Formats: sequence, structure tokens, C-alpha cells
Amino acid sequence: MASSSILPDAQLDVLARHAEAAAHHAYAPYSRFFVGAAILLDSGEIVTGCNVENASYRLTTCAEQTAIASAIAKFGPEIRIRAVVVHNLNQSTCQPCGACRQTIAEFAPPTAIIVYPSPGGVTTCTLAELLPSSFSLDA
Ligand code: THU
Repeated sequence: MASSSILPDAQLDVLARHAEAAAHHAYAPYSRFFVGAAILLDSGEIVTGCNVENASYRLTTCAEQTAIASAIAKFGPEIRIRAVVVHNLNQSTCQPCGACRQTIAEFAPPTAIIVYPSPGGVTTCTLAELLPSSFSLDA
């Protein structure tokens, strides 16, 4: 796990373990690409999600979006995301897709930490680095 000046490595390791466990729950019979996400809320709670595919492919839900939907279902619409850790069981480089970045931005500040698998390890960055220009009705 790469070090982060914002979250302690121990906390990132806990999130990574949650993300990996969630990936084992993925429903991905079409792509065989098994993704898990763990999100850390400002409250300190950790919520996980996995990708859920569908025979009508475009109905697939990404792991990050499943985690966010679960967090809102559990804690309500005021949640704020401090960090998102993504993992896959395919040992593959995998950044959050564009739609997931916009979904994260709805509930996270630009300074939120995003961790995703990269060659030889993981990349730790901020949401602002992944999505410098999110859509907003206020802009
Ligand atoms: N997937 C995610 O769960 N998160 C992402 O950010 C990118 C892609 C899933 C969707 C689909 O089930 C599989 O990975 C292959 O695209």
C-alpha cells in the first residue's frame, strides 16, 4: 500500500482488506472482472460494494456505485466520503471509471482519497486529480 499523508497506512490497509473481501461477492459472470470497493465515511464507518452485472450489459452497476448506494441506504443522504479504495481479483490495473468518479464527487470533497490498483501496487491520489472538472448544477 502506498503511503498517504492524509490517511494512515494502517487505515488504508483496513480499507484494502474490506475492498478485497467485497470483490469476492461480485456478480460478474459476463466480464469475469471481479471488483470490490470500500469507502470510508467522515463518520469513520466503512461501507463496501461490488460490481453487479446483468445480462442486459448496460444495467451493470460498478463496485464504487454499489458501495455508495449501500452507504446512503444505511446512513442516509448526508454521508460524506473521505476515501475510496478499489480492488479487483484479476490482478489488473483498474482506475474508477468516469461514471464512478462523478458518483463519488456527488458525496465527496475534491480532497477525498482514491486508491486503485496499478502496475506493481496501487496508486493513491485525490478525487480532484481523477476528476478535475466534475459536473455541477451550480457551476
Ligand atoms: N467496474 C467496476 O466495478 N468499477 C469500475 O470503476 C470500472 C469497472 C466493473 C463493471 C463491470 O462489471 C466490470 O468491472 C468490467 O467492466
